Amino acid sequence: MELVQAYISRNKDRFLDELLDLLRIPSVSADPAYSESVHKTAASVAQSLKNAGAESVEICETAGYPIVYGEKIIDSSLPTILVYGHYDVQPADPIELWTNPAFEPIIKTTPIHPEGAIFARGACDDKGQMFMHVKAFEAMIKNNALPCNVKFMIEGEEEVGSVNLGVFVKNNHARLKADVILVSDTGMLANDVPSITTGLRGLSYVEVEVTGPNRDLHSGLYGGCVANPINILAKMIASLHDENNHITIPGFYDKVIELTDGERREMAKAPFSKEAYCTALDIDDVMGEAGYSTPERGSIRPTLDVNGIWGGYTGEGAKTVIASKAYAKISMRLVPDQDPIEITELFVNHFESIAPAGTRVKVTPHHGGEPAVTPIDSVGYKAASLAYEKTFGKKPIPVRSGGSIPIVAMFEKELGLKTVLMGFGLDSDAIHSPNEHFGVFNYFKGIETIPYFFKYFNELNQA
Ligand code: BES
Ligand code: MN
Ligand code: MN
Repeated sequence: MELVQAYISRNKDRFLDELLDLLRIPSVSADPAYSESVHKTAASVAQSLKNAGAESVEICETAGYPIVYGEKIIDSSLPTILVYGHYDVQPADPIELWTNPAFEPIIKTTPIHPEGAIFARGACDDKGQMFMHVKAFEAMIKNNALPCNVKFMIEGEEEVGSVNLGVFVKNNHARLKADVILVSDTGMLANDVPSITTGLRGLSYVEVEVTGPNRDLHSGLYGGCVANPINILAKMIASLHDENNHITIPGFYDKVIELTDGERREMAKAPFSKEAYCTALDIDDVMGEAGYSTPERGSIRPTLDVNGIWGGYTGEGAKTVIASKAYAKISMRLVPDQDPIEITELFVNHFESIAPAGTRVKVTPHHGGEPAVTPIDSVGYKAASLAYEKTFGKKPIPVRSGGSIPIVAMFEKELGLKTVLMGFGLDSDAIHSPNEHFGVFNYFKGIETIPYFFKYFNELNQA
């Protein structure tokens, strides 16, 4: 292990340069204009895997963007780790809010990252974190110190709902056979408070359209006489929460598993400062469901949020108009055992039922995903915990996250495998936002910690 760690120290500059090169390719999966770049990124990831020492590297075509596969099987009697990550990124917009162009990575220090952070779209989510695995693998291979077999499955459609990954997994059960799935696509509490993610929320995402009159109308001639779709939509949306910020959709909470008091007390041990939280976001108070703390509201409780709302006149100056239509995009984050299909159905029925006379409502479901919780008594979790303890000098805290990685539940169903979520990002890294970044400290901490996971995973499996 000393050789592996020494190799990482010796190669830090190159490891950083290679990540910066990867970040320069704009692999935005949501926007077809970037299609060529997304394919280029897949090729680049495949080449990196080959250079690192992976075999059977293949760019596997799908109905959408390809999945990059590679493996190194050293001994069939050793445990196998399946590494999942994604090479696609979110769109950079609004681009004018980036202090440096999104696909021209630079390293700058921040109060939270005094050693510097890499600023670029995908730096943390997920190119930087995915690439830690490629470099950790290289360090193990080049020093003849790979303690487990390893398989890589790096997809290019995570940010658009992993629509073609299910088919790939179904068709490749044998090739993907493994003992555990390892993913770095989440975060930890702070650089001096290591944590391991033990849960992800599910997702139901819908678009709603409220239609009133058959054309835009003069708001003087018709105002007060017909239902204004924008007024109505605002009212309908407002009615989806009650005065305690509970969601009012009938049946919404029916399948929610409440945590025990003991589990909630355990959760409350993780450090959280409301003041620091508010300061970081420039808000004077938090808001959320009555009876739950902010960390609880953001992880073990389901939510409903409008992600976008539009309609009518939004140009310069004032145009007096009652629009014919109003729209909104609404996401619901789900917790065990809520089912995204059921929740979407409950939403559709409820939303249609509250539309007043004089309006029509259309709801279009988008992609969704199931929530997931991962055990803390598994060999995988124990190996991860030991690995963090080794490199951070502290035992990591298990923490449930509010984000979603829908494929985690799918892997469990399809492959019967639990996932270990070894994320090294911070909430303040601004993923999906302008000026996304990833700490240089975090990048190298990840590269250093992963080989220990391999070592302990092998040892615990032998024991
Ligand atoms: N890596 C994130 C999810 C994440 C981030 C989980 C931080 C926990 C902590 C992933 O790329 C993502 O953005 N997922 C989407 C859902 C997906 C279906 C588009 C999300 O959570 O909104
Ligand atoms: Mn991600
Ligand atoms: Mn993401």
